[in-house]
Parts: sequence; structure tokens; C-alpha cells
Amino acid sequence: MVDVRKDFAGRSFLAERDFTKEELLALIDFSAELKAMKKAGTPHRYCDGMNVALLFEKASTRTRCAFVVATVDLGGHAEFLGAADVQLGKKESVEDTAKVLGRMFDGIQFRGFKQSDAEGLAEHAGVPVWNGLTDQWHPTQMLADFLTVKEHFGRLEGITFTYCGDGRNNMANSLLVTGAKLGLNIHICAPDSLQPEDWVIELAEEIAATEGGGSVLVTSDLDLAVKDADVLYTDVWVSMGEEDQFANRIELLTPYQVNADMMAKTGKDSTIFLHCLPAFHDTETEYGKMIEEQFGLTAMEVSDEVFRSPQSLVFDQAENRLHTIKAVIAATMGRF
Ligand code: CP
Ligand code: NVA
Repeated sequence: MVDVRKDFAGRSFLAERDFTKEELLALIDFSAELKAMKKAGTPHRYCDGMNVALLFEKASTRTRCAFVVATVDLGGHAEFLGAADVQLGKKESVEDTAKVLGRMFDGIQFRGFKQSDAEGLAEHAGVPVWNGLTDQWHPTQMLADFLTVKEHFGRLEGITFTYCGDGRNNMANSLLVTGAKLGLNIHICAPDSLQPEDWVIELAEEIAATEGGGSVLVTSDLDLAVKDADVLYTDVWVSMGEEDQFANRIELLTPYQVNADMMAKTGKDSTIFLHCLPAFHDTETEYGKMIEEQFGLTAMEVSDEVFRSPQSLVFDQAENRLHTIKAVIAATMGRF
């Protein structure tokens, strides 16, 4: 039996594979507890006086705001350190930065490019490091996503969960491994050239067989992947740092757009739509306008109709970033 108040103390949260199924489920349940406390106005200042550093090499709305609000709700202070504010990697090594921050802060959030930088910070900081997204994984997002699924369906095991789109990105990797661990039937649907790397698929298959109990399917066959799906999930076709790839991705991924036809392919009225956000579902952004002018598309990975439909739980999912990130901070601080 996992005890969230003891078993995570002092640990970093860098990748889903570092945690057992029971540990991830315990964090999801603790998130639900913290969410109920917040809604009821019950104080939960488990980390009074804590200071956390928020290192961001890439932009963020949800992750940054969730870390700030979660820290304040727990009784702490959060300091935002953007790419232009710190020397990290430019004039000071990851190791030296970690040693300095670890002397001043009780925990460090890192969002950036290299997973090895998150690991380097954790190795040298002497305090917990939380991965707020790298090119490889997005583990805090996973807790929010599977909390949202559990809230809606009341269970995780046996749920058929299909991700359509760029299968080589951080979201596809994390959903594949975490879904396998939590016992879902996890499907990644992407064109052959955009499927997860072999080692990620092998890791997920091994986890499903030895720990999760669900199944793993990676395919370019849309009908096969989408049939019977309880959840249809997508992410941007072009991740942060890949902005020169729009033309190529639009050509490859247009058939994989989540739209009303795709939702109908599940054969279920009960299918929900999820997206980690931000999403390109209309032309109300600079990129959206540019894509319309250059490629004639008014939406990319999801149609506006599906995004705004009652089946779309994307804003519940976004809110859950707060409660789940709070659970990770509180559990790893271990000051109950
Ligand atoms: N989903 C997500 O990580 O959002 P942000 O990039 O806004 O943090
Ligand atoms: N794959 C996206 C996720 C954003 C939350 C990116 O890395 O830009």
C-alpha cells in the first residue's frame, strides 16, 4: 500500500517509468483529494515557507500557472526563472546551476528541451526536481489526463484510449508508457514516419505485459485504432522547437485530424475528447492565421466543432493540471 504522505519524500518526478502503477494511482487519488479540499475551501498548507524555482526554457501557460498556484496553496513561494533570466547551459553548467538552486530552493521545476538536463538537475540539486515537459516526456500532464479519465468513467483499467497525430513527441511517448502502466488499452495512431521510436514502444509493451495488464497498439490504420475508443486524444502537430516543420506535418497529419467523422468512427456516443492544450482549432491565433493563409486550413489537429462539443473535456483536463501538480509537490516535499 503506497502512502503518499511518506513514500515520495525527497524524490524527483522526471519520467513516468520511474514510478510503479500503484504509486501513479496513489498520486492521482491524492490529486482528487486535494481538488476536493480546494473546492471546499479547506486549507492545505502542507509546505509552509517552502520556496520553489520554476525554470522555463520553453513557453507555458498551464504548467507555469499550475506550479505557481499549487505552491501558494501549499503555503510556499514560487520564483519564475525564464530562459532569458538565468545562465543555465549558456554561461553556467547544469551541474553548477543545480548546486546553486539546491542551496536556496526546496524544489525545482524544469521545462526545457533535453531530458538529460532535467536528470542532471536532479542529480546535483539535492532537492526534488519536477519535469514540467522535455522533448521526451511530459509526466505531470499524465496525472492530469488520467485523473480526468478516472473522474469521467470512474475507472482506468480497460479503457480504450486512442491518441491520433504526431506519435514521436513528448505527449505520445508519455501517454504510451503511462497508459500501458495504468492498464488501459493504449493506441497510438500516426503515419509510419511519425510513430514512436522502437525503444519507447518496447518499453510500453514490457510494462503492459508485466505491470499494467492492458494492451499497446501502434498503427497508421485509423479505423483500427479508433474503433471502440472511449477517449480520443490529440496534440499539436508541431511541438515547441520544431516550428520549421509545419508544411511537412500538415501533409502527413491532415488525415489524422480529430473531427466529427473521426469521433463517429469510434462507434460509441460516449467517447470523450482530450487535448493537453494549447490547440489549433480555429484561426484566432497568429499561427492559426498564418496556417490559413499559407495552407488554407482553419484548424489543424482538431476541428473547432469537436473542440467545442460537449464531449470535449479539455478545460476540466487543464484545471486538473493544478490539482495534480500540487499532489506531486506536496508528496515529494513530504512535510505532512
Ligand atoms: N499542456 C501544457 O503543458 O500546457 P502549457 O504548455 O501551457 O504549460
Ligand atoms: N507536444 C507539445 C506539448 C505542449 C504541452 C510541445 O512539446 O510543444
